Amino acid sequence: MEKIAKNMTVSPPTIPLEKIPQHIAMIMDGNGRWALQRGLPRLAGHKAGTENLRRIIRSTVEFGVKYLTIYAFSTENWGRPPEEVKGLMLILQDVIDHELNELHKEGVQLRHIGRLEGLDPRIQKKVLKAIDLTKNNDRLILNVAFNYSGRDEIVYAIQKIIKAGIPAEDVTDEMVNKYLFTAGVPDPDLIIR
Ligand code: FPP
Repeated sequence: MEKIAKNMTVSPPTIPLEKIPQHIAMIMDGNGRWALQRGLPRLAGHKAGTENLRRIIRSTVEFGVKYLTIYAFSTENWGRPPEEVKGLMLILQDVIDHELNELHKEGVQLRHIGRLEGLDPRIQKKVLKAIDLTKNNDRLILNVAFNYSGRDEIVYAIQKIIKAGIPAEDVTDEMVNKYLFTAGVPDPDLIIR
């Protein structure tokens, strides 16, 4: 094994730029199983998953990935035990309270996808503040899917299209794209679960 001198920083392996995915999407999964296998409560798994997220964000910035989408809390997740739901809401707030400045310094632009209006007003306020603070950053666009589902995104788009009074014959692929939470974001090149 190659010996690494003390205090030497390890730089990322050289990867041809064209091979770096522009958009990586990650489905956070397995947190609960990870914790249960260690005799820990499920929330401990969510906390460990969040720690991993910090490393992932740093690496994506370092490698020059432009978009990272994290599927953190689906609309189905409301069906989890109340203690777990409460814990996940606290983790989201904790991340905003303690990581936002660092993310901002690293040039990360935070975006939210999903139904923000379905979250506690205090959380909505924090999320909106974070979005506003980082809106001019362009090193990495971090989409956080929270209270999100793919089907709900379609429902939301259809509602908006109907409300805008757009006739059926004018509904096209490109037009629907504009009404998605992810409008303007290229499709993921790599999805990791
Ligand atoms: C899936 O694991 C994970 C979740 C349902 C929640 C993940 C979300 C967080 C940790 C909140 C952090 C979010 C941000 C944006 C900081 P699981 O419980 O389904 O695991 P299992 O498949 O092993 O049961």
